[in-house]
Amino acid sequence: MLFEVFTGLPRAGPGDDESTRRAYRMMKGRSDNPAVLDIGCGPGKQTIELARISNGTVTALDIHQPFLDQLMAKAKDLGVADRVRTVNRSMTDMNFDPGTFDVVWSEGALYLMGFINGLKACRMLLRPGGYIAATEIVWLRDDPPNKLRAFWDAEYPDIRTIDANLKLIAGLELEVVGHFVLPQSAWTENLYAPLMERVPVLEKKYEGNPDAQGFLRTLRDEVTMYERYKDYYGYCFFVLRGTDL
Ligand SMILES: C[S@@+](CC[C@H](N)C(=O)[O-])C[C@H]1O[C@@H](n2cnc3c(N)ncnc32)[C@H](O)[C@@H]1O
Repeated sequence: MLFEVFTGLPRAGPGDDESTRRAYRMMKGRSDNPAVLDIGCGPGKQTIELARISNGTVTALDIHQPFLDQLMAKAKDLGVADRVRTVNRSMTDMNFDPGTFDVVWSEGALYLMGFINGLKACRMLLRPGGYIAATEIVWLRDDPPNKLRAFWDAEYPDIRTIDANLKLIAGLELEVVGHFVLPQSAWTENLYAPLMERVPVLEKKYEGNPDAQGFLRTLRDEVTMYERYKDYYGYCFFVLRGTDL
């Protein structure tokens, strides 16, 4: 059901091209034609942007083949397909050799392994001096209302503040190059607006199916929660560099 909701939408998580470019620009001294891995690429908005701006090759990894097909169709339209490769494989079972990539990227997906575990997996795949850019949901304030805290305790209990993440990252042999919070439009315009056009269509399609209706209700709840409490949480881009130069 999750896949049915998001297939065909431009993004499956909050993000925007300008933030992708901003994180990429923070990687000083990177290769001119880097080997990039994009983990949990989804429909691949950031994959295509990375192929466009990097002049390198981008390996896009996800477990949902329709996302990978959507991504390749777009890459062909935009003339970057020769530098994009898709891999249908789980991020928990990646079989790349250690040190394969100059840049490991992941927007809104490492949480599936646990953010810190995910960063460890990225770190293994980096060439010396390589970079990681990854987004993670964070508390922007440390005084969330009980209702909001209960919501995220149920959805993603590992949500932490930026500082708490930085403390954990400090133990990973990674230098923090920088971090910034995605603009609210990365949620509202790029993710929730298209999503809220799709949800009523699916509610109609799945009339009488309590499981589907329950799932669609959780999506509506998530959007309502964001509208109400968007100053309390957001997505943070972390740009990190291996310390083995
Ligand atoms: C929240 S979406 C983010 C997608 C994309 N990066 C974006 O920002 O639009 C998470 C993505 O992770 C993928 N995914 C889920 N479990 C995965 C796994 N075990 N290995 C690889 N990808 C996975 C989903 O198919 C989905 O595309």
